[in-house]
Amino acid sequence: IRCQSTSTDEPKTRRNLLDNASNLLTNLLSGGSLGSMPIAEGAVSDLFGRPLFFSLYDWFLEHGSVYKLAFGPKAFVVVSDPIVSRHILRENAFSYDKGVLADILEPIMGKGLIPADLDTWKQRRRVIAPGFHALYLEAMVKIFADCSERTIMKFDKLLEGKHSCGGNSVELDLEAEFSSLALDIIGLGVFNYDFGSVTKESPVIKAVYGTLFEAEHRSTFYIPYWKIPLARWIVPRQRKFHNDLKVINDCLDGLIRNAKETRQETDIEKLQNRDYSNLKDASLLRFLVDMRGADVDDRQLRDDLMTMLIAGHETTAAVLTWAVFLLAQHPLKIKKAQAEIDSVLGKEKPSFESLKKLEYIRLIVAEALRLYPQPPLLIRRAIKPDVLPGGYNGDKKGYRIPVGTDIFLSVYNLHRSPYFWEQPHEFEPERFLKQRKDVGIEGWGGFDPTRSPGALYPNEIVSDFAFLGFGGGPRKCVGDQFAVMESTVGLAMMLQKFDIELKGSSESVELVTGATIHTKNGLWCKLRKRSDSS
Ligand code: HEM
Repeated sequence: IRCQSTSTDEPKTRRNLLDNASNLLTNLLSGGSLGSMPIAEGAVSDLFGRPLFFSLYDWFLEHGSVYKLAFGPKAFVVVSDPIVSRHILRENAFSYDKGVLADILEPIMGKGLIPADLDTWKQRRRVIAPGFHALYLEAMVKIFADCSERTIMKFDKLLEGKHSCGGNSVELDLEAEFSSLALDIIGLGVFNYDFGSVTKESPVIKAVYGTLFEAEHRSTFYIPYWKIPLARWIVPRQRKFHNDLKVINDCLDGLIRNAKETRQETDIEKLQNRDYSNLKDASLLRFLVDMRGADVDDRQLRDDLMTMLIAGHETTAAVLTWAVFLLAQHPLKIKKAQAEIDSVLGKEKPSFESLKKLEYIRLIVAEALRLYPQPPLLIRRAIKPDVLPGGYNGDKKGYRIPVGTDIFLSVYNLHRSPYFWEQPHEFEPERFLKQRKDVGIEGWGGFDPTRSPGALYPNEIVSDFAFLGFGGGPRKCVGDQFAVMESTVGLAMMLQKFDIELKGSSESVELVTGATIHTKNGLWCKLRKRSDSS
């Protein structure tokens, strides 16, 4: 056991020693760490040129649903199996932390839910999750519809301009438009701040995009040079990043100060039952500050808000982007969606009640998330020794996992696995309505929509962890309902008014990936008023 440390690092030294000892024990018991696991040797060139998750898929087909990926001295275990995913995310969730992801996100999100250590996470999850109660979501649906209306009005105006010059369509980068829409929604829903980004630019908006850009850069750059002392002063992009963070933090600090000054202390039940329809500020921040016992420090609140700003913005924008990309290649499905919208909404905006009836639109959202999961990989690091169950990996063996093992749970592979999905690469929202139990895979409960009656989307319970659009287990997305409702409202209001066509071929839309999958040069589409609307 080798351990290098300085005397000022005493607790860390002890922990390293314990970790190394438990690794040694695990290795002895298993006859070698991950000894029998298939190994995919990656060339460094695999990391460039195309998104990593494509290579991980090819290796999954070659090596099976649990394999070890070695890049020189660095190794990851790649998991593409629902039974093993269920074990890591739910059954043995607290044997893992966020590993590499927490290293990258901690400078931005501090002790927010995503990178938080276990103790902080337990405490904050208990406080934040109740904030997404039914009356809050109902109030949010109004915000989703109002913000989507702003976007639609902008498109209408652009089209009017085209009409006056004899044109009948407008060309737009819908990825950029969805990004603005999602930013406005998350600002209003989480801390009652109107970025107004659909119609204007501001230093705060620029700072948010700058920060997202840096988070993406860090997640794809393999040497964490930003940790080098003085890097934040010397490297121009790091200086910019810290300036951007300051702009956002100052804005959030102001909002927190204001919320605290206008605090109305009451108990949680009253908060959950209060008349949200008449509230000027229904935001999550208002709830967190007003809640009894929320004597949480400003820094923690700021970390929570920053986490939700980042976690809830790009993800939703990406789901809308890929939903449109897929729909545009299937005009008949657009017609089917529009028929549902016409019959449920007519000319009205969606409401909390009516969106429950927009079943096909919700299935389109889920199917877009199946084909383009956001994020495509979930990242974990073992903090206790573990043994993975035998998944559908051919030989049915389980594997020992020593402390410190980095795991990539490939949601992309899982969602396109030929073992669990018929025609896995096809866009087929209707697939979720079919019951699919008898696929002969021991330990997997099949696909059964009756398992989670009334669920807003076909979740991980219905699919027994074959669909992980919002993760699963205790670290599952806290904003899943918010996001599904938001995407459903946004998509329904677009299709209610417009027909959408890709500007170029679908092959010309290149993928790039950081935390989410997005396009290289935007999703350029032609938009025209619906020809069949009365
Ligand atoms: C966690 C997906 C929208 C807040 C997660 C996770 C996934 C996910 C897969 C689990 C990550 C893991 O296990 O490592 C998505 C997708 C969204 C979306 C696809 C949009 C379509 C939102 C929104 C919010 C949000 C709107 C907040 C308003 C969070 C938070 C976590 C999280 C705070 C961490 C939960 C925890 O560790 O306790 N999200 N999310 N997400 N999401 Fe979302």
